[in-house]
Amino acid sequence: MSTEDPRELIGTAPAAEEKALEGALRPKALDDFVGQQKVRHQLSLVLQSSKLRETAADHVLLSGPPGLGKTTLAMIIAAEMSAPLRITSGPAIQHAGDLAAILSSLTEGEVLFIDEIHRMSRPAEEMLYMAMEDFRVDIIVGKGAGATSIPLELPRFTLVGATTRAGLLPGPLRDRFGFTGHLEYYTPEELQQVLRRSAGMLDMNVTTEGFVEISTRSRGTPRIANRLLRRVRDWALVHEVDEVDRTTAAQALDTYEVDALGLDRLDRAVLHALCTKFNGGPVGLSTLAILVGEETETVETVAEPYLVREGLLARTPRGRIATTAAWHHLGLTPPDEGGANTPALWANEP
Ligand SMILES: Nc1ncnc2c1ncn2[C@@H]1O[C@H](COP(=O)(O)OP(=O)(O)OP(=O)(O)O)[C@@H](O)[C@H]1O
Ligand SMILES: [Mg+2]
Repeated sequence: MSTEDPRELIGTAPAAEEKALEGALRPKALDDFVGQQKVRHQLSLVLQSSKLRETAADHVLLSGPPGLGKTTLAMIIAAEMSAPLRITSGPAIQHAGDLAAILSSLTEGEVLFIDEIHRMSRPAEEMLYMAMEDFRVDIIVGKGAGATSIPLELPRFTLVGATTRAGLLPGPLRDRFGFTGHLEYYTPEELQQVLRRSAGMLDMNVTTEGFVEISTRSRGTPRIANRLLRRVRDWALVHEVDEVDRTTAAQALDTYEVDALGLDRLDRAVLHALCTKFNGGPVGLSTLAILVGEETETVETVAEPYLVREGLLARTPRGRIATTAAWHHLGLTPPDEGGANTPALWANEP
């Protein structure tokens, strides 16, 4: 992952121990992949057509926020094509030579997955252009005036690129993908399906209401849903609860300070500071960061995106403001509904 995510439960990056577990919970076929109807349908057409034409599928770019299933889809593409899969990542390809070594060892039809493709080095990127389009690379041998380039034919392969930042991809690279799938956040109903499937694999007994409760706290992200499910499992095991229902799921997640909207301690601290210390704002980002005792960057990249997405916080030219929904979520009365907040503004000042 490109950004360090300090939060254990609702952070979007996978923790180290989580990677192995994620492998076990990953759907292996397109039909088992929950949600993302549009992308799934479009992708299945691309794959079926290439099977009918008996050639490697077009290159596929998958973009979208962390934890929504890009790596999972890349693996599914290889499985559906019955092709071997080679996995690498943008940061691992420092030099064009690194990429040349990978490309030259590919076999016919192989799927090459480059994760975080936006972080590849420039020279490697340029080599990739030609490889994607003409299935050919020029390998430079020697240095300076004596350097010569040796053309090398490549077998037809399928490149699957994944990126959380499609906007950072240079146009020429983006244009060379035959199909781009943008993954969207999941609806609670879709997350319930993900959870149901995972609970089956973890041998957990959860009621429909229990799934609903976990899904609404999962921030639209299957990775977070699966993680919360495992914490609920721990809680249920220790408390000797055989069947997880809405109440026990809520109790378990409250214990981990993940609230009904999936906000954690930091998210709530940001909103709380905004509402109680600044009457809802506007307030500058750096002031807000000091109030919650975090770096400005953490507040901006870790807490804010989800708060904005949920309509709890707005960014304005004059600073951050808490929306009416934020006040209500914290159980406070917003000023425009008669909340007496001015005294509270000073109440906590030394
Ligand atoms: N559509 C889905 N159906 C079921 N499970 C899913 C789905 N999408 C993702 N998951 C689960 O969520 C976890 C994270 O998915 P994945 O690793 O594919 O995300 P990603 O988009 O590659 O994230 P990152 O950007 O961090 O690499 C996996 O363990 C997988 O089991
Ligand atoms: Mg991934």
